[in-house]
Amino acid sequence: MNVLELFDLTGQVAIVTGGARGLGRQMALALAEAGADVAICDLLEEGGSRVVTELTERGRRAFFGRVDVTRTDEIETFINQVVAQLGKIDILVNNAGMSSDGLALDEEPDDAWRKMMDTNLSSMFYVGKRVARHMIDRGEGGVIINMASINALVISNIAPRHNVPYCVAKAGVAQLTRGMAADWAPYGIRVNAIAPGTMLTAQTAASRNYPEIMERIIANTPMKRYGEEEEIKGLVVYLASHASSFMTGSLVVMDGGTTIW
Ligand SMILES: NC(=O)c1ccc[n+]([C@@H]2O[C@H](COP(=O)([O-])OP(=O)(O)OC[C@H]3O[C@@H](n4cnc5c(N)ncnc54)[C@H](O)[C@@H]3O)[C@@H](O)[C@H]2O)c1
Repeated sequence: MNVLELFDLTGQVAIVTGGARGLGRQMALALAEAGADVAICDLLEEGGSRVVTELTERGRRAFFGRVDVTRTDEIETFINQVVAQLGKIDILVNNAGMSSDGLALDEEPDDAWRKMMDTNLSSMFYVGKRVARHMIDRGEGGVIINMASINALVISNIAPRHNVPYCVAKAGVAQLTRGMAADWAPYGIRVNAIAPGTMLTAQTAASRNYPEIMERIIANTPMKRYGEEEEIKGLVVYLASHASSFMTGSLVVMDGGTTIW
């Protein structure tokens, strides 16, 4: 097979959670441009509708569901709707996530800790388990991509803000990815995680209000810049496609070199 054909997703159906903006939107567009029909879900209905228009403009079938990924009833309804409208699910990108409140651990309210774990970690189990069940029942395998972060590996150095609950949740995503990969390899389901460094999206806006934080991140990054949203596109298509057919359980770092130092 010609190498470029390995990246072709024609005839595949993908779900991207948190697909209404930011990295999720870029990944949805990338999968569509590679040939997949794409269903996105998010809390943001306006953004979700706009992305559906962008996906259909690329000649693909697209679907948006207003879903809170911490609500298992809403997830199940969405998955059933996607299968009814698009026929099946081949690819899941567990991307939805939130940033932290910036508090030190000793000041972190218990409820805020629970919300972080539920949104950034448990949601990937809730959605992943249900999509894997569909893939196992279909018997044709599939691909799951979980959005981790370099904070799966290192604690953010963003004083005067703090970010430990986020880092703990993302470390959990890395280990969940390995666990899913091990449990579901017998069914032909590959599971990998992406670990970006600082990308210019709404999520990093709070830290960008502190010039000293951003200057420190640039100083600690050999490439001396942040990532642009679009730079996620190639990696998600690689991981979603046959091009990465022998990869599972990996945490792929994409950070301009931040974690080198
Ligand atoms: N931007 C970065 O620097 C960076 C770095 C590493 C990892 N990440 C991760 O990438 C993913 C995307 O982040 P982003 O930077 O595009 O941020 P973003 O805030 O632009 O996008 C996150 C999306 O998830 C949605 N979302 C949040 N909670 C949800 C919920 N409970 N149910 C449904 N949807 C929900 C939001 O509405 C939003 O559309 C996140 O998991 C984030 O932690 C981002």
